[in-house]
Amino acid sequence: MHLIRASSAVGAEIQGVDLANLSDDEFTRIRGAFNAHGVLFFRSQNLSPEQHLAFAKRWGDINVNRFFTALEGHPQIAKVLKDPEQTHNIGGGWHTDHSYDERPAMCSILHAIDTPESGGDTLFAGMGAAYDALSEPFKAMLAPLKAAHSSRHVFGADALYHRAMQGRIGNPEAATQDSVHPVVIGHPETGRPLLYVNPGFTIRIEGWSPKESGMLLEFLYNHTKNPRFHTRFHWQPGSLAIWDNRATWHYALNDYQGQRRYLNRITVEGCALSPAGAA
Ligand code: SIN
Repeated sequence: MHLIRASSAVGAEIQGVDLANLSDDEFTRIRGAFNAHGVLFFRSQNLSPEQHLAFAKRWGDINVNRFFTALEGHPQIAKVLKDPEQTHNIGGGWHTDHSYDERPAMCSILHAIDTPESGGDTLFAGMGAAYDALSEPFKAMLAPLKAAHSSRHVFGADALYHRAMQGRIGNPEAATQDSVHPVVIGHPETGRPLLYVNPGFTIRIEGWSPKESGMLLEFLYNHTKNPRFHTRFHWQPGSLAIWDNRATWHYALNDYQGQRRYLNRITVEGCALSPAGAA
């Protein structure tokens, strides 16, 4: 097993493993790399849906996304699909999955089936590196803050996204879950401080006016959008990425109009999030 870092801020590619036949020792090393790098990439993993699920279950219980259309016969696998005639893609903006949940999904495991001839890459941002680059007084200001997150404006019946994704995203009546998390969380396994707000789902800083909230969130988003915190992954059929939703943002680029892109995604249950430095 061989690890190549994808950038200095986030991500690594793991070579020389078959995810369908992983030893316990290999899994332990992969889990360590996941905690260290936030997102891991694998190539040429020709997994069946059952093998994809078996790999996901090694990480924890499966969290069924309540909005995505499921793969036929596999209710635990969400389809991330854009057909040639569709113009909008799923996940085409910076976000982290499930931050609107009280116990946000720990990780998402995305497996590529059909990829466009060109385009369709995914960008990832490292929220530990983004946090580390802030000044100490600014970090101290962020430390006690909490932010609210919601699914209503994305997956609710009135949301533009929901309307643009007919047939691929559904269940708008389930978009009622809001949650509050610390703005800076401690990684549940390593304790590393991580910036935990995102442009997709964070709606305000608790206790701040809309104008103050907007200003701080805009600053944190612009800060994190700096490419020095990013890596970019080019998909091929059989590619697999597993990302830590607490430690990364991601952004599926929509630069492949007229081509098909189809991946299967499984999310794994997470836990309630605590502020950085909490025991
Ligand atoms: C997602 O946001 O989960 C989809 C990411 C992708 O399609 O690259």
